[in-house]
Amino acid sequence: MRRLRAVVAVALALGAATGASAYQPRVNYQLQCMGCHHADGAGEDGRVPSVRRSLVPFSALAAGRDFVMRVPGVAQAPLSDAEIAALLNWMARNLSDVPVPAGFVDYTAEEVAGARHRPLASVREARNLLLVRLSE
Ligand code: HEC
Repeated sequence: MRRLRAVVAVALALGAATGASAYQPRVNYQLQCMGCHHADGAGEDGRVPSVRRSLVPFSALAAGRDFVMRVPGVAQAPLSDAEIAALLNWMARNLSDVPVPAGFVDYTAEEVAGARHRPLASVREARNLLLVRLSE
């Protein structure tokens, strides 16, 4: 029993030391996104949009989810599909002025995998179309 416990302890220590995927979404946000989007997600006027009023409403539309997973900062982040999904779900719950609705559909690794490798032709145009749809 003691030996088993030692083996488990070593395995856990190795996993923590080697697995980048052991990072929590909050840490991934700090490392990969915060430099542009700032700690609270508010971004920078004229340069980086605030996710505080866009992420949750965008996430309610198929086209909005598609957009969010394909913007360069998300699609090209050095994170796995599962990490991206967990990160977007964390952002929706922690960096949004718009509360996550009861029926909020969490992003999944499969969904991210299906979207992130298709580059957006025009990021600005896609975003403007979404804003028009949300205002209708
Ligand atoms: C180099 C700066 C930069 C980094 C790093 C970055 N982004 Fe972005 N992000 C932008 C800009 C600029 C936009 C607006 C779309 C565009 O031009 O790419 C954007 C758009 C977005 C959007 C859509 C929001 C909206 O209202 O249009 C989301 C969601 C997002 N980023 C999430 C992330 C996440 C998550 C990360 C980290 C994994 C990240 N970004 C890293 C600059 C960045």
